[in-house]
Amino acid sequence: MKDKLLYEGKAKQVFTVADNPNLLVLSYKNDATAFNGEKKAQFQGKGRYNNLISAKVFEYLHEHGVNSHFKEALNETEQLVEKTTIIPLEVVVRNVAAGSIVRRIGMQEKTIFTPPLVELFYKKDELGDPLINDEHALLLTDVTEAELNQIKEMALRVNEQLQAFFKEIHLQLVDFKLEFGRNPNGEIVLSDEVSPDTCRLWDIATGEKMDKDVFREDLGDLVTVYDNILSRLEAKQ
Ligand code: C5P
Repeated sequence: MKDKLLYEGKAKQVFTVADNPNLLVLSYKNDATAFNGEKKAQFQGKGRYNNLISAKVFEYLHEHGVNSHFKEALNETEQLVEKTTIIPLEVVVRNVAAGSIVRRIGMQEKTIFTPPLVELFYKKDELGDPLINDEHALLLTDVTEAELNQIKEMALRVNEQLQAFFKEIHLQLVDFKLEFGRNPNGEIVLSDEVSPDTCRLWDIATGEKMDKDVFREDLGDLVTVYDNILSRLEAKQ
């Protein structure tokens, strides 16, 4: 099915699909990076966990009416997706203050955001993905004002769905990052991945961090934590 390597990112490889220019295969890698690539490591099995967890998230979102690029998991580390042209924005939704917002504007960690906060970052490695405002997003990307509003509304809808999804497995969704892309019909759909690499998840009972912060902050064994999340998701069905 997969044909040529089209692009290699920090966490995934992207392959073309033989005979279908509208599809891609995403292959999840075992590499972990943090702080814009300054901290790097490899974890056996990480690609499998993120592929399988992300697939479950996209399936759930599909069942709840969110349009995404996701088609199906092909095997343990690969998934088939619709080809999209990625809009170079990282859309972060925050329910609770953690991470960069604490460092950037001195928010007290664990402050609850009601309503949730949506932030835009410009996806540009050389610049360290800076925080931008709506006007910057309109200047830097091809999205219209209406599409930008649609993206933010979608991100908030995904937040509601994902809060419920993770609550069922006793995890609090603290914050997460989404990417959107334009599909072959020109529609904006949710793209990339949704996994413990791209979300902050805290155990509701213990407050334990169960996401990539375990790697960022050297809190323990990342694979054990990701395995725990997948086991909880598998037990839920
Ligand atoms: O670092 P920051 O606090 O801004 O991250 C907010 C959320 O976005 C976190 O869940 C983090 O894992 C995710 N994120 C990401 N990719 C980035 C930056 C942040 O998945 N490049």
